[in-house]
Amino acid sequence: MTKTKLPNVSPNVCLSWSWFKGWGRPITECLAFIRWRVRIFVYRWAVRLGIDIRLNEDDRRILEKIILPSFAADDGIRNVLFVGCDWYTKFYPRMFPGRKFWTLEIDPRKRVYGSKLHIVDSAVNIGNHFLSEPLDLIVCNGVLGYGLDSRDDVEKAFAGCFASLRTGGVLLVGWDDIRTQLAVPLDQCESLKFFRQHVFPPFGAWRTLIPNRFRKTYDFYIKE
Ligand SMILES: C[S@@+](CC[C@H](N)C(=O)[O-])C[C@H]1O[C@@H](n2cnc3c(N)ncnc32)[C@H](O)[C@@H]1O
Repeated sequence: MTKTKLPNVSPNVCLSWSWFKGWGRPITECLAFIRWRVRIFVYRWAVRLGIDIRLNEDDRRILEKIILPSFAADDGIRNVLFVGCDWYTKFYPRMFPGRKFWTLEIDPRKRVYGSKLHIVDSAVNIGNHFLSEPLDLIVCNGVLGYGLDSRDDVEKAFAGCFASLRTGGVLLVGWDDIRTQLAVPLDQCESLKFFRQHVFPPFGAWRTLIPNRFRKTYDFYIKE
């Protein structure tokens, strides 16, 4: 297994080509960005060939070593939806052996990183897919502010999550405090008010902020 760190440029912009289109970027940031894009290209192909590569970031380690294993150890979690996928999430379905692990991603090119049960669609339409077999867990990590941006879309996505979960089902929302708050202040999100905040036992809290450069925040909600 290989571990890789994100480049040392502003976390708000470092993964996006749109950042690169502007003039006047410091040359060191441009070089870091180009090196990162080349590495991503190589990693994507390596992952397709079955090589396990993981992001070497604190928030990712917490997701992969505490949060997902804790859910996987829960026998009540049989039907899981993971929203948004990429090369570094390809191994996640293997963490839930014997369960139904769905992935849903808007970009059809990322189907290769999804599970066998993959849906190409926007999170806005989650509510259309799982009404006949309710989910036990939805993980919506890193999607807010990375494509799921407008208030209307966020409200529809979380309302769809509520409709798709069974009673007692859990929604995990992972968001970057540095950018998501600019898009939609989650505390003002009406559809999240359908849920109750859920204390996640390993953290002893419903909200946990990882003090890294993204200020990644994990929020846990339960449908009652
Ligand atoms: C930063 S990545 C996060 C991937 C993954 N969820 C994780 O844990 O890191 C954001 C992903 O969300 C996808 N995405 C953006 N908007 C979306 C939407 N409305 N519905 C579903 N996926 C979306 C993007 O295509 C991208 O693959």
